[in-house]
Amino acid sequence: MSKLFNRNTQAIFWNNNKTAIQRMLDYDYTIKRETPSVAAIVAPTSGNKFEKFFWGGDEIMIPLYKSTAEAKAAQPQADVLLNFASFRTAYDVTMEALNLGGFRSIMITAEGIPERLARGMNAFAREKQVTVIGPATVGAIVPGAFKIANIGGTISNIINSKLHRAGSCGLVTRSGGLFNELSNIIAINADGIAEGVAIGGDRFVGSVFIDNLLRMEDNPDVKYMILLGEVGGTEEYKVIEAVKSGRIKKPIIAWCIGTIAKYYDSGVQFGHAGASANAETETAEYKNKAMAEVGIHVPSSFNDLPEVINGVYKELHAEGIIKNIAEPELNVVPNVRRPKQFICTISDDRGDEATYAGFPISSVATPDTGKGIGDVISLLWFKKQYPEWATQFIETVLKTVADHGPAVSGAHNAKVTARAGKSVVESLVTGLLTIGPRFGGAIDGAAKYFKYADDHHLDPKAFLNYMKKEGVPIPGIGHRIKSLKNPDLRVEGLKKFAQEYFPATPLLDYALTVEQLTTSKKENLILNVDGTIGILMVDMWRALGYSEEEINEFIESGTLNAFFIVGRSIGFIGHVLDEKRLAMPMYRHPMDDILYDVQEAEKL
Ligand code: ACO
Ligand code: LMR
Repeated sequence: MSKLFNRNTQAIFWNNNKTAIQRMLDYDYTIKRETPSVAAIVAPTSGNKFEKFFWGGDEIMIPLYKSTAEAKAAQPQADVLLNFASFRTAYDVTMEALNLGGFRSIMITAEGIPERLARGMNAFAREKQVTVIGPATVGAIVPGAFKIANIGGTISNIINSKLHRAGSCGLVTRSGGLFNELSNIIAINADGIAEGVAIGGDRFVGSVFIDNLLRMEDNPDVKYMILLGEVGGTEEYKVIEAVKSGRIKKPIIAWCIGTIAKYYDSGVQFGHAGASANAETETAEYKNKAMAEVGIHVPSSFNDLPEVINGVYKELHAEGIIKNIAEPELNVVPNVRRPKQFICTISDDRGDEATYAGFPISSVATPDTGKGIGDVISLLWFKKQYPEWATQFIETVLKTVADHGPAVSGAHNAKVTARAGKSVVESLVTGLLTIGPRFGGAIDGAAKYFKYADDHHLDPKAFLNYMKKEGVPIPGIGHRIKSLKNPDLRVEGLKKFAQEYFPATPLLDYALTVEQLTTSKKENLILNVDGTIGILMVDMWRALGYSEEEINEFIESGTLNAFFIVGRSIGFIGHVLDEKRLAMPMYRHPMDDILYDVQEAEKL
């Protein structure tokens, strides 16, 4: 790979460092990237599923994951890891990512990773052919394509330093601060940079000068390179060798800072851990001299660096190697931005026609579309287009549970309320409020417990014992009037549908073995309509390819009971309208139907 990043590069950002991520996204927006440069955030201790960020004046959601493995599995295209873990954790995070694979480069910001660990980590990365930027760095940038976190500073500084679009210089520094300084100097004296890396200030960093310069030598966008070395270490000599051998042919301008060190006694340690000369060959002065000797452009002092850059740039421009750059049009990030209070991911009413999960209502509403209420539910509840067997199953469930006569808890409540003179909606709600663990609302519980038992390979007896210990009747088992002798034909209908159209029904098959045991104890302990629905929905989702985690989430959030709620609303409304049509008077319960057992209250 001759280029470090391109306009499609996406990263996984380890740590929810909101300011740094927002800076990346502001950069993306400014340069009109199509996709955000951060595809996922790893936040091990967060319970949130996403973090909102501004995208220009608008907002986008970036998914949050608990581990790098989860993030990588969900966003496999993200091949850069931005490791913003602390120095205590950064090593483990990097090693995990290297073992996982799929990352082209890993940037490590932490300063102070123990040197022994850093050396092992860097060697392992080299073995895996992963470019490590850092530790102890602000990162790297390919202007106009991808920028890591805070490199280049604010957007206005970035534009002033021409870091918003590709120039022709390849810049490698150790320090992040001097990287910014140099970008500015290059913008003033030349046409900006094509690729820039601050390799980091620790003694043992992953990619060293030569790795980056060799890549830049092979990168056609880079026409010349600038190397800003410093006192300490011998990495500059590898560059000298590459120039000598002809491996690097593009012009290099270089300067090692720290020439002042000679005015101090030996052993002066500058800001970076690596910035200390242990031998004469590690002094800045010695290295500058050695570089000049092989034809590298070395100024006489740091102050002369701009002039040398300008000279090399002008020469390459005159030779036609560097062409003039057309300045791209940029987006402007608004100064005032307001975060949105609500999020909607299912429907959109802003266009000419409102949509259900991206489908205009007219494309699903009328009979000629061939779509039914099952399709509408799959779009609005699950944001997916389910196959016909699944939408037909959903519709079968709704039709099956629409009503079960006036005597059941909910219908009774709705009727009493209607007779008290209340409206359709008020009466409906009182009916709906009875839906719960005993009546109609055992679907979630049935799915949860039967799935648990099946997942844990509990045989029916073990399952019954387990439920006994839990102290709850098995949701989905038992009925007041239905039994082996008086079978519930709704259940038979649902089972028949599933056996005919489902690819497989493993959970139903298991539930039927449980039913055999419960009905052997008492004949009304059948698999009831709630149980059948809950269990078959799990079989449906498994067949549709949902993960166990996603299915558990559906169950936990009460999705399954919602099928009963929607279906039975039809019946409740029917009963309410029936009461109104019949103009029934207020209901009073017959007193002889109540056991009165009221004692005089004891005086305390
Ligand atoms: N699991 C285990 N044992 C049960 C279950 C069950 N789900 N339901 C009843 N039993 C047992 C009771 O423990 C009791 O045992 P015992 O005689 O040894 O004391 C016996 O069966 C009778 O219990 P009741 O509560 O009197 O049974 P009833 O027939 O009145 O209950 C009900 C019916 C409420 C549906 C009950 O079976 C139950 O709670 N089931 C679980 C919840 C459920 O699935 N509800 C949805 C029903 S379908 C619908 O509403 C659309
Ligand atoms: C229903 O669907 O409402 C029932 O199964 C409950 C009942 O008692 O009939």
